[in-house]
This record gives sequence, C-alpha cells and structure tokens, in this order.
Amino acid sequence: MSAPKKLFIKTYGCQMNVYDSERMAEALGGEGYVETKSPDDADMILLNTCHIREKAAEKVYSELGRFKGLKADKPDLKIGVAGCVAQAEGEEIMRRQPLVDLVVGPQSYHRLPEMEAKARTGEKVLDTDFPEEDKFEKLKNRPKAKRGPTAFLTVQEGCDKFCAFCVVPYTRGAEVSRPADRILREARDLVERGVREITLLGQNVNAYHGAGPNGDMTLAQLIWELDKVDGLERIRFTTSHPNDMQDDLIEAHGTCAKLMPYLHLPVQAGSDKILKRMNRAHTAESYIRLIERIRAARPDILISGDFIVGFPEETEEDFQATMDLVEEVKYGTAYSFKYSTRPGTPAAERAQVDPAAADDRLQRLQALLTQQQREVQDSMVGREVGVLFEKAGRLPGQMVGKSDYLHAVHVADCDRNIGDLARVRIVSSGPNSLAGELIG
Ligand code: 5AD
Ligand code: SF4
Repeated sequence: MSAPKKLFIKTYGCQMNVYDSERMAEALGGEGYVETKSPDDADMILLNTCHIREKAAEKVYSELGRFKGLKADKPDLKIGVAGCVAQAEGEEIMRRQPLVDLVVGPQSYHRLPEMEAKARTGEKVLDTDFPEEDKFEKLKNRPKAKRGPTAFLTVQEGCDKFCAFCVVPYTRGAEVSRPADRILREARDLVERGVREITLLGQNVNAYHGAGPNGDMTLAQLIWELDKVDGLERIRFTTSHPNDMQDDLIEAHGTCAKLMPYLHLPVQAGSDKILKRMNRAHTAESYIRLIERIRAARPDILISGDFIVGFPEETEEDFQATMDLVEEVKYGTAYSFKYSTRPGTPAAERAQVDPAAADDRLQRLQALLTQQQREVQDSMVGREVGVLFEKAGRLPGQMVGKSDYLHAVHVADCDRNIGDLARVRIVSSGPNSLAGELIG
C-alpha cells in the first residue's frame, strides 16, 4: 500500500469555513489524504479563505507567496485556494499567483476529488459554480471516528438581505436551507462520535426554512427536533438577523433547556440614518425592543453583536447613536470592525469616511465593549453554571470547558473527563476566562 498523501488546510474567517474545511478534509480523505499540521510535509495545501474585509483577502496572497520555496523543493506539491476569496477572485488568483493549481468556491467543493485528480495531471483547475446539485448530498458520508465534544453543523447558507457593505450574498449566493431530515441524521452521527454540543450555522441561520415532514420548518422547530436527540446536551446557533427573529424562536429561548442562553444578534450601527443606508431594514429602536422581548423570555441570556464603524457618510453624531445603543443593550461579547470597502457592493461607490476618524471611533467603541464584556464576565462570580469540558488545563488536575454563556471556565482538582457536562460554581474572573469549582 502506498503511503497516505498529506493535506494541510489553513482556515480563515468564520465558523462556516471551519465546518467546510472539515468536510473538504473528509472528501479528500476518500482519496487517500490524511491531515498534517504543517505545510512543510504536505502533498497538498488548501487555503480556505475569507473575503469579508480587505485585510482578510490580502492575507491569502501573502500566505501563498510563502509557499514558493516549498513548491520549488517539491514540484508535486499541489496548492489550492478555497472559500470566499476563491469565489470572488478565482481567475485573478490564478493570474496573480501562478503557484496555485486549483481554485474551488464554497458551493462546489464536493467536486474536490475530481479536481485534485486533474490537478495531479498538471492541469490548472477552477470551479466557482453555483451548481444545481446539493453539495451536502454529493459529499461522502462523514467518517465515524470519535471526535471532540463540540461541533458545527451548517443548516443554511447564503443570504438574500444584501446589506450594502457585505460580500456574502455574492460569494455564498442566495439563501438555501438544508432539509431537516439530513440535518438530524448528521446531528445523530455527530452525537455517536462523541459530540455533546452542536452549533447550527448559517449566514442567516434564523431565516432557516428547510423542508420537513409537513412542509417547511422554522429554526425553532428544527431546534425542538434536535432537542429530542439523546446524548445531545447543548444547542447553539449563529448568525442571526434581527428581522428573522420569529416568536417561536424567542419563546424557545425560555422553554428549550438544551438551547443555550447566548445569542449573537448583530445590529451593525445605532443610527437610523446609517441603518437605512446599510439596507438593514430595521431601526435602532426596533432592535432594542426585540432584545427586550428576548430578555423577557430568557432574562439571563447573554447578547453578542457585530458593529461596523466608519460606514460611508457616518458622522460623529451617527457614531454617538451606536455608543448609545451599546450602553442600552449591554453586550456580553461583541465584534467591531472598521468599514472595509468591498468591490461590487453598493456602499463601495459612496463617500468614504476619513480613515483616522474611523480608527478613533473604533477605539472608543472597543473600549466601551471591552468594559461591558468585563462587567458581564465578572458578574458570573458566585453563580452556578453548566460547563462542558473540552480539554485538560495546563495545571495538573485542571480541566477547561465552556459555560452555558460561552465563557471559558478553568476548574482545578477536576475528576471529570472531556465531554462531561458538570455544574460549576464560579469563584473568580480573570483576564480571559473564569475559574470555578465543581458542585457536589
Ligand atoms: N467592512 C467591515 N465589516 C464588515 N462586516 C461585513 N462586511 C464588512 C465590511 N465590508 C462585518 C459585519 C458582519 C461581520 C461578519 O463582519 O459586522 O456582521
Ligand atoms: Fe451580510 Fe449578514 Fe447582511 Fe447577509 S445579513 S448581507 S450575511 S451582513
């Protein structure tokens, strides 16, 4: 038997890319590839890329440049670019970087095995189709090997919202939901392999409307079906749009014990003028009222958000409205970004904000968000939370896991195993994590 070929995958960007990379590795596993942690001994290198901001896209080209020496030493080495940069700039990648043998978009990676075979013959291969067939159905069944206690599961892809700054509707395509039975099958398989927590993924996950036994299902209905899966202890989902936050999903946060009290609900900005120009189709006020309803259903829920500062035509007053909204909502975690012009999106044509002003706003927003994050984390001290252990800690006898609220928790003198869910009392709050002790 010939030695297995080695595959090195580097993943950029969002959680969906993490999921896609797993599926790509599995697809190439059928072609005799095993994963390696280093590009140096790889027979194939795949960069699974992100196009959301300019910096993310540029990283790909600098990373590719670094592989020049490797390819010179090992002419059989194949280099591929996958993900959203592949989708957006496929031809240009091939032109700008002749090292690249293969370019595959996020909707066609089920064709990787054939593409790899072609690339082995010395051909350059590019596939950025949005094919009719469902890639998830074409992909091989996932292997049965044991795995860690948490997993991502893509249930919905693409976006029809067309926020004026965002490339996702162009790189990932129109909104498509996977049928519920296939998701449930994949979830049961994951649980058999040791998974205890599943995060349902979608660019617009709460717009989920996949086919069920009696017509299309909502995300809440899908969550209730997953709730019945024995051995699955925790359910999360991300990322949601405020306008798709339906009543049954809000209610599930109060009634479904497996659904964790954490919600990532990006608002992007707090000024109605800017929200309108972003094509968000909601106001700051409607978002705040929505948060109130969600908190009425689940008072302890931790809210997370995304923000963009320096969107075209944002004034200091508009920015203040974002700060006011943040003060009102009080976020447990948040991600904030300086607006990045993306070619082909509507906002790219508009008057850009002075970069120095945008930098200054980003700093002020991040200071406020960090302070809120700190306060919310510190407020966990003295509380009892569930912790799912994911790995051993650095100290002997220590275990590390995530709380229901997604905070990292260290537990000393812990006799539990990876994959165990325990009740823990939080005793202190450190810079990036909590410390707790087992109860009982
Ligand atoms: N510039 C800056 N941030 C962006 N995001 C999306 N597009 C851009 C852009 N052009 C942010 C949004 C989104 C998150 C995933 O990335 O906040 O919610
Ligand atoms: Fe992009 Fe999200 Fe807006 Fe869709 S809803 S366009 S993915 S920011």
